[in-house]
Amino acid sequence: MKLISRGAEAKIYLKGNKILKERICKKYRERELDVFLRKTRTKKEAKLLSEVKRIGIKVPILFDVKKFLIEIEFVDGKKLKNCLNKNNYKKFCKKIGESVLKMHLSNIIHGDLTTSNIIVKDGEFYFIDFGLGVETKSLEQKASDLLTLYQNFKSLHPEFDCWKYFLLGYKRKETEPVLQVFKKMLKRRRYI
Ligand SMILES: Nc1ncnc2c1ncn2[C@@H]1O[C@H](COP(=O)(O)OP(=O)(O)O)[C@@H](O)[C@H]1O
Ligand SMILES: [Mg+2]
Repeated sequence: MKLISRGAEAKIYLKGNKILKERICKKYRERELDVFLRKTRTKKEAKLLSEVKRIGIKVPILFDVKKFLIEIEFVDGKKLKNCLNKNNYKKFCKKIGESVLKMHLSNIIHGDLTTSNIIVKDGEFYFIDFGLGVETKSLEQKASDLLTLYQNFKSLHPEFDCWKYFLLGYKRKETEPVLQVFKKMLKRRRYI
């Protein structure tokens, strides 16, 4: 078993062709709250992996869920962050837009939409890291999903106009109200 990532919330181990994601204890959090957050985020992540799969978006196969740990398929690809380039970014960003559209139309919010949480394998996009996800119709929560990705595109991939192509996939009559809220949030942020 090999530790391949240690994030703020979790340790990620590679065990054969499986990933074990274990949510770790955060000393600065009060004990009960810490246990509650780790438990609920683990459960939420497992639940959303199944929901998102059901609506036809690629996610790692879920093998097992324990109290603070999920066992999922190892997706042997590359993080989107490391493979966006000038030749593929238009096509890739549009595809991401179509997937996020599907999630939002099903009232699923990813919660941490960044190019580090999307793995590209054989030309397919696998979404991971659903621990902060939510199921809600809330326009604000959908818009804040967009804001996270927008800022991620701006800061990590400033040389490409990712957003324009994302919108080609995402913008529909049904998502107009979300985009309105998103624009308001963006304006508010610029003046802070
Ligand atoms: N199913 C998976 N297949 C391949 N790599 C994974 C998988 N799950 C996680 N990883 C790797 O571990 C990193 C951290 O996992 P993630 O679920 O995003 O947790 P964190 O909350 O620490 O960001 C990812 O960016 C990715 O590199
Ligand atoms: Mg992550």
